[in-house]
Amino acid sequence: MKKIFFTVAVLVLVAMVPAYGADGKAVFDKVCTFCHKTGRLTAPVFGDKELWAPRIAKGKDTLYQHAINGHGMMPAKGGEATLSDDEVKATVDYMVSESK
Ligand code: HEC
Repeated sequence: MKKIFFTVAVLVLVAMVPAYGADGKAVFDKVCTFCHKTGRLTAPVFGDKELWAPRIAKGKDTLYQHAINGHGMMPAKGGEATLSDDEVKATVDYMVSESK
């Protein structure tokens, strides 16, 4: 019973957390890491220069658009529709800067 209460309390807290702002790392750790840490669904692995080079070569604007609107198996905004476009862009910046 206690466990259930704790779980509900955590969920409520998580739901109340305000927007991430421009903290790309915080967004990445919470939303994007699920696929981009291990390469789930063929997502380019965070920090893997070889996998990211051809993507970075497409230009930041393309990466922003694909992250915001989705691309292949990549869900729009990583499936987290509450993220603002700027938050997604900040997260792409973080991923790119750590993967080149
Ligand atoms: C459900 C799994 C999943 C989640 C969660 C996810 N991604 Fe992805 N992402 C993918 C996959 C799969 C691809 C490869 C898509 C392709 O090239 O076909 C991808 C590709 C990308 C690319 C490269 C796009 C390109 O044009 O090459 C960027 C940038 C990206 N993701 C950003 C993010 C960001 C930012 C988040 C978190 C807000 C995120 N992803 C969360 C699965 C995911």
